[in-house]
Amino acid sequence: MSFETVEWKNGDVVLIDQRKLPVEETYLACKTLDQVADAIKTMVVRGAPAIGVTAALGLAQVAHQYTGSDLDGFDKRFHAAADTLAATRPTAVNLFWGIERMKRCFAANRAAGLAGLRKALIDEAVRIREEDIEVCKRLGRFGADLLGDKPRILTHCNAGALATAGYGTALGVVRAAAEAGKSPTVLADETRPFLQGARLTAWELMKDSIPVTLITDNMAGHMMSLGRVDCVVVGTDRVAANGDVANKIGTYTVAVLAHRHGLPFYVAAPTSTIDLDCPTGADIPIEQRDPAEVTHVFGNAVAPQGVVVANPAFDVTPHELVTAIVTEKGVATAPYSRSLRELVGRS
Ligand code: MRU
Repeated sequence: MSFETVEWKNGDVVLIDQRKLPVEETYLACKTLDQVADAIKTMVVRGAPAIGVTAALGLAQVAHQYTGSDLDGFDKRFHAAADTLAATRPTAVNLFWGIERMKRCFAANRAAGLAGLRKALIDEAVRIREEDIEVCKRLGRFGADLLGDKPRILTHCNAGALATAGYGTALGVVRAAAEAGKSPTVLADETRPFLQGARLTAWELMKDSIPVTLITDNMAGHMMSLGRVDCVVVGTDRVAANGDVANKIGTYTVAVLAHRHGLPFYVAAPTSTIDLDCPTGADIPIEQRDPAEVTHVFGNAVAPQGVVVANPAFDVTPHELVTAIVTEKGVATAPYSRSLRELVGRS
């Protein structure tokens, strides 16, 4: 990749500032826990796997910076930091997965003493980041196998390199298809209100010279009715045990449209996005964001002052509308309550 989404650099958690793309490509070096938490909250970094990796690196930074000499003090500091990071955003389960993995590492290495524990935690967070890239490449290849030649893929939001440590999930499928010589083209929904499709998906695909056509969200049905879409590929923030998937607001609409037009609706995600403890989509917490994201575009008002606004950041697509869930361990199909358990090896 010609850019890095999230990196560990000499104790800093360095993030490409996604609020400023595509106008400016700038990087923010987070030097404190509060800066890391704020970066997740304000969407400097966003996308389910990317925020999981960032939270893990944030905990590595807490370990790196701890100057006290007693283990109990470090234990308190580390777990308070984990709570702070867990309170940043509610929907993407990868955030909690990353934090839990770091907590397990803490418990497993407590006996190694402060220095040993610190090293183990930093190594684990760096490993989580590296694994995320590998996992995306693997699931990308499984997804590419589902596509024909010259596939015309519609996607929603950004489930790309910017939403992961690199390569992407939905866009990982696109990249793997391109690497396999299948010549994919992408229709990218702009994804109101935060414009992840227009600002981020279009930007990263153009950087990779993968043909992309940007459309507003309300054009998707028209494009399908004209026969200009072969399939939909999206990412997800959380897959419930029954196969319901939460993803960026508007995804459900796209799934209904795909169903109406007989098009496959594929969801690409690492197994860290599968939450078997969440029985159905109704149990997934949906983040509600600032009304200003709806009433304003780049600081300019597009609605009357004082209007009542709803701004749910995610919606749930029921499993009946999902053709397949593509992971790094293989492809799950209905009945999901069985296939997802088999994939993650839990009976
Ligand atoms: O609010 P965001 O930008 O964090 O939402 C991101 C999405 O909905 C993505 O589609 C999802 O996290 C999958 S990313 C591989």
